[in-house]
Order: sequence, then structure tokens, then C-alpha cells
Amino acid sequence: MATSPKLIDGTSIVSNRDLKIAVIGGDGTGPEVTDEGVKVLKAACQREKIGLQTKDFDLGGDRYLRTGEILPDGIVDELRGYHAILLGAIGHPDVAPGILERGLLLSLRFALDQYINLRPVKLYPGVETPLAGKGPNDIDFVVVRENTEDLYAGIGGFLKKGTPDEVATQTAIYTRKGCERCIRWAFEYTRKRNKRKRLTLVAKTNVLTFGHDLWWRTFQEVAKEYPDVQPDYNHVDACCMWMVKNPEYYDVIVTTNMFGDIITDLAGILQGGMGVAAGGNINPDPGGVSMYEPMGGSAPKYTGKNVINPMAAIGAVAMLLSETGNNKGDKTLVQAGDRVMKAILATTPKMKTQAAGRMGYGTREVGDLVVSAL
Ligand code: IPM
Ligand code: MN
Repeated sequence: MATSPKLIDGTSIVSNRDLKIAVIGGDGTGPEVTDEGVKVLKAACQREKIGLQTKDFDLGGDRYLRTGEILPDGIVDELRGYHAILLGAIGHPDVAPGILERGLLLSLRFALDQYINLRPVKLYPGVETPLAGKGPNDIDFVVVRENTEDLYAGIGGFLKKGTPDEVATQTAIYTRKGCERCIRWAFEYTRKRNKRKRLTLVAKTNVLTFGHDLWWRTFQEVAKEYPDVQPDYNHVDACCMWMVKNPEYYDVIVTTNMFGDIITDLAGILQGGMGVAAGGNINPDPGGVSMYEPMGGSAPKYTGKNVINPMAAIGAVAMLLSETGNNKGDKTLVQAGDRVMKAILATTPKMKTQAAGRMGYGTREVGDLVVSAL
């Protein structure tokens, strides 16, 4: 007799396929969009008979203001027991910029060694792009951003702080291991994606003659292992021009952490903006715990109004399923991710716009539409 989908409770994982997912709704409208993400995740799991357990974690600006804690001891260890994390948004109007970003988001990326930041840039049908004359066939590429090094390493300091002679340093760190594992993953991804099979390294070798020389040499070496993938190179400034003029040129981009941060905001607006763009912070090693998030902020002024677009959070769920499936080597999970993506593609043409308050539907209704498309 076929077993029906069963809710697992951590002590009784019934199959390697079952999922334990940690949900960090976070601040502002974060919990509203993760609610819709979880709604779609539940429906997708039910359809494929994947057992699912979710647990909400109370982290973010409110907790910080209430208790002074950002990422309390033990939470990271607890999160290690989950297959993946779904994050809503962090950012609170009463908390100074940088505190939650570094204390929560970057700390989790580093602690869980999520060394890949995966940013699919796909213009869904019916979604408006600011680029005249470009459609879904033109805007469909992926950025693979290194996620643990570079200027984000937090190396630096002040000398004579607060005096007229003040000196500040902020050092970019690049390691052979760090760039090689990211570049190799990007080659694998390009091969598997199987579209134009072109991997473009985006860097600044003409100026960053040490750190980006390391990236360049490593890229050339790893490329030899992937004769079926065309290795390609753009300086980051030129990439910004091409991305606007000829986005259809790109298949997969691999880049450093800081440049990746910048070009993925440019790319995000080309695909319709914060309501749709999603990202994955991935540790692809066996058993690695990855974290998926909509790119939009916490948008505090819209909190509780049921107007924010949850599609980015739903896109994050599609990625969560596919990438967790890849990590576990489980085709059913990958298929569930594909189905969620198909349901998104069937839903966006029905919406008026992707902008908060102007979608023609409320936050919860968009979630329902995707579930019915599933
Ligand atoms: C992103 C964000 C973060 C980053 C911030 C919030 C620290 O902009 O995920 O792109 O710079 O990586
Ligand atoms: Mn960013």
C-alpha cells in the first residue's frame, strides 16, 4: 500500500526525500511573503508526496529591540539540523543599518559556509521590464556570485578615528579555495543548464591585478575541465553596459562577492524588480544547509496590508526545492521545484503588475493563484 504524505517531526524522518525547513520570516512584510512561500511549498510537497516539517524562527529587528539578541547561541547549531532555510526579509526602521545585515544575514552565510549566491535572472511572461523591446526570451540568465570572501570578509580598521588624520582600511580577501569552488560550481551549473553553455567571468583584471588575477588564472585552469562550456570574460563596468543593451548575450555569469552584489541589483530590475527577484545562499557540499530569500527588503510601510508581491518568495521556494533535490540527489524534489516554476510562469500573466498594491490581487490571493496553477 502506498504511504500517504506524512508530517515528519525530526525524530522520525521517514524518507531521505522528506524536508525539514526552517522559516525566518524576519521583519516588516517578510513574514507575509514567507507565509505564501510556505503555502506553495506545502502544496508542492503534497502533490509529490514529500513529507514536510517547517519551524518558524523568531529572528530580526523586533527580537533585537526586545531582547538585544540578533543570532543567539545555539540557533546556528539548531539550523544545521534543517535541510534549508526560507528567509523573508530583515531590516527595521528603528535599528541602525548594518547591524542586522552583518549580525544575521552575513553571519548565517558565513557560519553555514553558503559559498554560492545563486541569482536567476528570468523575465517571467507578463512582467514588465524597463528595457524597451526586450521580452522573456531576451532576459534569461543566471548570476553565480561568490558569497563568503572579498570586501565582505570584514577585514579592516581605523587609525586615529575621529581625528583629521583618520585612516580607514577595508581589505578584499580572495583565496584560491574560495574562488575555485565557486568557479567550478558555476561551470557545472552552466553544463547542467545546457542552454548557450557560455560562462562569463565578470571581474576587473585591468585594475585589481592581484585578487582578480587569482580569479582569472583559476578560471582558465578550471575551464580546461569543461571543454563543452565556452569560457568568456567581461570587465564589470562593460558588463553593466552589455546587460542593459544585450541581456540576451548572457547565459551564466560567475563573479566576485562585491561585484555580484551590484550587478544582481541591476539584473533584478531588468527582470521586473524586487517583487520577483529571488536568491539562494547555497552550501552545495553534502548535507550543506542553504538559505533562500526574496531580494526585496522588509518594506515596513506595507506591513499587514496584504499588498506586497510574494512571487519572489515563491521563486525562492522553487529554487529551494530544486537545489535541495540536487544536494540530496533526489529527482522528485527537483521535479517539485520545476513544477513550482511552471506554476509561477502560469500566474504572472494574470497579474496586472508586480508592484506592491498594483498587482490586481492581494498577497494571499497571489499565493492562492500559484497553488491552483500547481
Ligand atoms: C544582498 C544584500 C546583502 C548583501 C546586504 C543586505 C548585506 O544586498 O543579498 O544582495 O550585500 O549581500
Ligand atoms: Mn545586494
